[in-house]
Amino acid sequence: MASIHTDLTRLLGIKYPIIGAPMFLVSYEALTIAVSEAGGLGMFPLPNYRSLVDLEEALKTIRQATQKPIGVNIHLSGKFPWEEQLAICLDMGVSFFITSLGDPGLIIDRVHQKGGAVFADVVSLNQGIRARERGVDGLVAVAAGAGGHGGRIPTIVLVPYLKEQTGLPIVAAGGVSTGPQLASALCMGACGAITGTRLIASDEARVGEDYKKAVIEAGPDGIVVTDRLTGNNASWIAKSIEGVENGPDLRSKKWKTLWSAGQSVAQVEGIRPAGEIIKEMAEECVLAIKKINQVCIA
Ligand SMILES: Cc1cc2nc3c(=O)[nH]c(=O)nc-3n(C[C@H](O)[C@H](O)[C@H](O)COP(=O)(O)O)c2cc1C
Repeated sequence: MASIHTDLTRLLGIKYPIIGAPMFLVSYEALTIAVSEAGGLGMFPLPNYRSLVDLEEALKTIRQATQKPIGVNIHLSGKFPWEEQLAICLDMGVSFFITSLGDPGLIIDRVHQKGGAVFADVVSLNQGIRARERGVDGLVAVAAGAGGHGGRIPTIVLVPYLKEQTGLPIVAAGGVSTGPQLASALCMGACGAITGTRLIASDEARVGEDYKKAVIEAGPDGIVVTDRLTGNNASWIAKSIEGVENGPDLRSKKWKTLWSAGQSVAQVEGIRPAGEIIKEMAEECVLAIKKINQVCIA
């Protein structure tokens, strides 16, 4: 299929404006490789690797399987050895960084020197303006309904708002898991979208079958948002946190049994190879744009 060209695909040198979400305890080497090979941008969060040696090994594995662009989510807080992580990533050709927590300005010069780009996760205009002051290349608009730590403003409002008010390239995050949803994000002025929840139900996601099955079975009304588990609002599959959100504390449950997912569980119908999901999203995005063109001229 032909490429879809946007500011994001030109910036990153990828075929489709689709980023495979960095997901804690979900996206590792296999998912990153599959998404990048399919023409999107594969990503993983650095906290998925406990040591710098593990990170280096993972990047070697990825680099042996694909030379396509890849990205990472970096946490710039004192809790992580981000300087060493950054050095390893830049050495191994990681070209895209999404920052969450901390000051994105800390890494921008070093990433730019290597020809890469830095976007910041934001949930509000204030955060977007602060990130712009630090010199980021773009923003990830983390909207309501997203898996993980989501925002409170719907994608359909947040994306055009941030775009208009900051003038920066915006990647939509939250509820974009099909071609028509990607097309609508592009219509709203996004340069691309991150898809997370849908990729949990992929062959390559490193989670148990029970988690994948729960994503398939849940409807959007089976997703709850609470700050009780991490201290910040995050979306969870309700049945996986039963007894935790109101009662006993986290120590009685293991992280692996607390399943985060966003409202786009609504669009997840089965477990499939991630590459197929990305290619289908791109194809159906183009079809959706053609269809809407016909409606407009009819
Ligand atoms: C299980 C899970 C874990 C996540 N972990 C992270 C993370 O570690 N870092 C991060 O930047 N975003 C994380 N996210 C958010 C995603 O990167 C992405 O923004 C979001 O999933 C997009 O919305 P969607 O789930 O509706 O597709 C996570 C999302 C999920 C579902």
